[in-house]
Amino acid sequence: MKKRVAVLISGRGSNMMALIEAARACDYPAEVALVISNRPEAAGLQHARDARVKALAIDHKAYATRAAFDAAVETQLAAEGIELVCHAGFMRIQTEAFATRWLGRQLNIHPSLLPSFKGLHPHKQALDAGVRVSGCTVHFVTAELDAGPIVAQAAVPVLADDTPQTLADRVLSAEHRLYPLALSLVASGRARLEGGRVLLNALVNSTDPLFSPTP
Ligand code: GRF
Repeated sequence: MKKRVAVLISGRGSNMMALIEAARACDYPAEVALVISNRPEAAGLQHARDARVKALAIDHKAYATRAAFDAAVETQLAAEGIELVCHAGFMRIQTEAFATRWLGRQLNIHPSLLPSFKGLHPHKQALDAGVRVSGCTVHFVTAELDAGPIVAQAAVPVLADDTPQTLADRVLSAEHRLYPLALSLVASGRARLEGGRVLLNALVNSTDPLFSPTP
């Protein structure tokens, strides 16, 4: 049985589409059953509908409190029998109560090698810091922003003439591969949260480091 997944978005939804497409494979352990955007104008809503996935706008501006917005999301998750939630460019902070209730069942993708460069403008932060390698991270969601236990990471080189946009594009290609991998590990039970850490039962290449620059 595939796990029923909701994807929460605020924008264009390219990571959402990567998850929808990966989940179409019959041996993939999850299906995207619902997409919710807190922004009614998010382009990703139409992309989801074009892919024949149920997509709803729940406009956070219509709710007086964070708790009321979270409750409206929760109602839709329950109505669709959702078991796992994936944040994909979802620009809302959740209440601690919601994060705690869904602990171990909510994932987020962030375009940096966490714990470096949390929050906004991670690519500018990476360039300002002068790192030679950046990347992306999928982690379990906790109440603290971009700080939950890490499930999977992918690294990309930073080039001498990178701008925040060229680095973002390179990292985004990695995100589109990493998020489906991480979701499949969690949905199949091969990655799970235990005692605040992620226990992983998966292949890891322990021989080939990523050099930047190449030796
Ligand atoms: C991605 O880089 C994601 O990691 C970040 O916001 C961006 C969303 O892009 N949190 P998309 O909406 O998935 O195309």
